[in-house]
Amino acid sequence: MTASNASTTDDRQPADERRQQAADLELCEISKLYPGQSDPAIDKLSLKVEAGEICVLVGPSGCGKTTAMRLVNRMIEPTDGDILIDGESIRDRGPAELRRHIGYAIQRTGLFPHLTIADNISTVPRLLGWDKQRIDARVDELLELVSLDADDMRDRYPGQLSGGQQQRVGVARALAADPPLLLMDEPFGADDPINRERLQNEFLRLQGQLRKTIVFVTHDIDEAIKMGDRIAVLKKGGKLAQYASPAELLTNPADKFVEDFVGADRSLKRLALQRVRDIDLWKVAEAREGERSEDVRRKFEDSDLPFAILLDEQRRPLGWLSDEAVRGERVTNDTRSPATPHIDLDDILRDALAELLSNGVQYAPVLDSRGAVSGVLSLEVIGRFLHSAPTESRTGAELVMDDPEPIPGEGDETPENTGK
Ligand SMILES: Nc1ncnc2c1ncn2[C@@H]1O[C@H](COP(=O)(O)OP(=O)(O)OP(=O)(O)O)[C@@H](O)[C@H]1O
Ligand SMILES: [Mg+2]
Repeated sequence: MTASNASTTDDRQPADERRQQAADLELCEISKLYPGQSDPAIDKLSLKVEAGEICVLVGPSGCGKTTAMRLVNRMIEPTDGDILIDGESIRDRGPAELRRHIGYAIQRTGLFPHLTIADNISTVPRLLGWDKQRIDARVDELLELVSLDADDMRDRYPGQLSGGQQQRVGVARALAADPPLLLMDEPFGADDPINRERLQNEFLRLQGQLRKTIVFVTHDIDEAIKMGDRIAVLKKGGKLAQYASPAELLTNPADKFVEDFVGADRSLKRLALQRVRDIDLWKVAEAREGERSEDVRRKFEDSDLPFAILLDEQRRPLGWLSDEAVRGERVTNDTRSPATPHIDLDDILRDALAELLSNGVQYAPVLDSRGAVSGVLSLEVIGRFLHSAPTESRTGAELVMDDPEPIPGEGDETPENTGK
C-alpha cells in the first residue's frame, strides 16, 4: 500500500539519511607489499575513523599515504588485512560499485581535459543513472558550494581554469553523488600558499555543513593540524607512528620521529588550534562615567586587574581608568591609556598573541560580535594555556613540553605596559 509505505519511509528517513551522510571507516591490520618489492609499503596499519570526522594521513614522501588511500577504494588490493566501511568488508563489494560511493579528489585534480566542467562534475551521477534535471541541479549546487560561478564555469574546459579553480572542481566532483566517504590526496597541494589557505578554509566551512567522513592526505604538518579531527602520522614503510587529535599530537608526541615531524615550534602551533572564546579570560572591573566609585572599587575584589575599564552605554571599551578616576564620589573619564587593541572572541589565539605583541601590550579587552567587552586576554593567560594539557590527553600521562616559548615580560603587568 502506497500510503503506509510512504509513511514507513518517512519514519525511517532520518536514520537512513544519517547513515548515508557519513560512514564509519576502519582499517584492520592492513598490509601492502607491491610485487617485486622486499619491504611492504603499508605494514599492519590499523585506524578507526568515526563517521563525520576528518582523518589526516601525514608523513614524509614515500611513507605510504597514497597507497593507504587507494586500498580503501580498491584501486589496489591489500596483501593482508581488511577494511570495513560501516562494519562491512570492502572485499564484499565490487570495486566499481564501491568507488561510486566514495568520493576521490587528487592533487592534479584528475579532471578529464576533454569534458566540460559540468560533465566532469557529473561523472558519477551519470554512472548512477540520475536524470538530466537532477544532474543539472546538482552541478549548479556544487559549483555554488565550492564558490564558483555556475553560469560562467559550467561549459568551460579544465584547461580554461586556474589551478585553484580546477581544484575546487575536483572537490565538487568528489562530492557529486553525496558519498558518505571522501578520499582526498593532497587536494590543495599544487596551490600557492594564499590560494591554499583559502581552499582549506572553504573546505572546512563546507565540511561544517556536510559532515562527511574524510581521509585527507598531506605531507604538510600545518595543513594536517588545521584540517584534521585526528591525525595519523606514518613512518616509512606505512607504519603508524601516532594516531591522535592535533592538540594531543602537539602536546604529547609519541616518539622522536613524531616530535621532529611536528616541529620545534609545536607549542606555538597549538595556538592556531584555539579560539579566544574557548579559554578562561581575565575578569576586569567595569565602570561607566558617573557611576558611584565605591561600587566600582568593590568590583576590584573579583577582578584580575588592579584597575577598571571604562565602558560606553553599549559596553564598548573607552579606555583603562586611572586610579584618580575612581577616587572621587563618581567615576570620571580620566583614562591611563586607551584599551587597545581590541581582540575578537572568535580570533584564534595565535592571531590574538600577534596582536598583543605588535601593539606592545601585555593584555587587551576581548569583544563579542556586538563590540561589548567579554573579558581580558593577557600574555599570562596565553602562557597558562601553552603550559596546560590538551583536554583530550590521557589523565595521569605526564606531559613534557620541551622549551616552551618564553613569554616576553610574563608576570609583569604594570599599567605602564599597556596602551601607547
Ligand atoms: N606500483 C608500485 N609498485 C612498487 N612500489 C610502489 C608502487 N606504488 C608505490 N610504491 C612504493 O610504495 C611506497 C609508498 O608509496 P606512496 O605513493 O604510497 O607514498 P606517499 O606517502 O603517497 O608519498 P608522496 O608523499 O610522495 O606522495 C614508496 O616507496 C613507493 O615507491
Ligand atoms: Mg602520495
